[in-house]
Amino acid sequence: MKAILVGLGGRGKGWLRDLRENPEVELVAVVEPAPKNKEKAVKELEVPEKIIFDDLADAAKKHKADFIVDVTPPAIHHKVAYTAFEHGLHVLGEKPLSDKYEVARDVVAAGKKAGVKHMITQNYRWAGLPRTTRRLLDQGAIGQVGQLDVSLYVNWADAPGSHYVTQPYMFLTDMGIHHFDMMRYTLGTDCVSARAITWNLPWGWHQGDACQLILFRMANGINATHRGVGCTVGHVPAGHNGEWRYEGPKGTLTWEGFKLFQTHQHKADPKIREEIALDTAGTGGPKQLLGDFLKALKEGKQPECNAEDNLKSMAMVFAALKSAKEDGREVKIGEL
Ligand SMILES: NC(=O)c1ccc[n+]([C@@H]2O[C@H](COP(=O)([O-])OP(=O)(O)OC[C@H]3O[C@@H](n4cnc5c(N)ncnc54)[C@H](O)[C@@H]3O)[C@@H](O)[C@H]2O)c1
Repeated sequence: MKAILVGLGGRGKGWLRDLRENPEVELVAVVEPAPKNKEKAVKELEVPEKIIFDDLADAAKKHKADFIVDVTPPAIHHKVAYTAFEHGLHVLGEKPLSDKYEVARDVVAAGKKAGVKHMITQNYRWAGLPRTTRRLLDQGAIGQVGQLDVSLYVNWADAPGSHYVTQPYMFLTDMGIHHFDMMRYTLGTDCVSARAITWNLPWGWHQGDACQLILFRMANGINATHRGVGCTVGHVPAGHNGEWRYEGPKGTLTWEGFKLFQTHQHKADPKIREEIALDTAGTGGPKQLLGDFLKALKEGKQPECNAEDNLKSMAMVFAALKSAKEDGREVKIGEL
């Protein structure tokens, strides 16, 4: 299938590699307006100059394609998507769907109207810890979960000058979307409301708040908390994954570093403390996500992380954001 890659900044290079390596994909054009990144594309990444365009509409007119991969900054995603829809192109869009909830909702509706597939790259859920956790929870390994606590300590986006550093609330919106999507995915349920407070630490390098405490109430009564510090200069226990703890009546599932443990401790029962081998199915990250997108195009089915479903993860981001701006008021998803 023929692809156009839109945006060749930091993340775009990974997608250039993944598109080139996929035998089902032919990369017919690249869209990148920044002269410095264009030059890099030609000199360092061996992209032929003649297939690089400033504008998606021009690329789409010149090269017939099936889909685009949008790796532009969040504030641009809707413009890229609308241009793609106009040209009948399917869209595999980088997260987050947009930097505004109303815009995200409109884009999803426009994609449906255009009759194209629109998938968002929630690649964190295509990994061993979330896949195995989802299976174990579905099998009732710890009973009906009552509480989930996520903690994330990370030196996030520590290169100066990027949009991650200069724009407000990026830790909550740009990083948070991965975690909130994994909360929905592993728990198999959607969010009802959010209460959040955010702040920055005195030494933090982000212009927006990079620390947060959030309480999500989920549809099946689960309380799910997210505690994050995006500007630690100290110990990072579990990379960008963070550490997760699912509480159920039969014990816990915990992500400890990059390992998964099942534990049961009560004086009436035999003690269980077991490291669980991680599943391999569905754990291929962005490459497998791309495979799922191509399969959806071939079979005419919805991909797992389709944009309509993704709106429910976006709703968690924007309910938390609204709450943070209103001093921690409980914001119902229905208010968005
Ligand atoms: N899924 C993940 O794990 C993951 C990881 C990193 C980044 N991302 C996402 O990828 C996206 C891009 O992030 P990045 O770090 O590569 O940003 P970046 O700023 O490094 O790159 C964005 C590129 O898009 C180009 N661009 C801007 N407007 C354009 C337009 N109209 N048409 C074509 N190109 C345009 C810019 O010139 C730049 O080269 C963001 O949405 C980010 O959240 C996802």
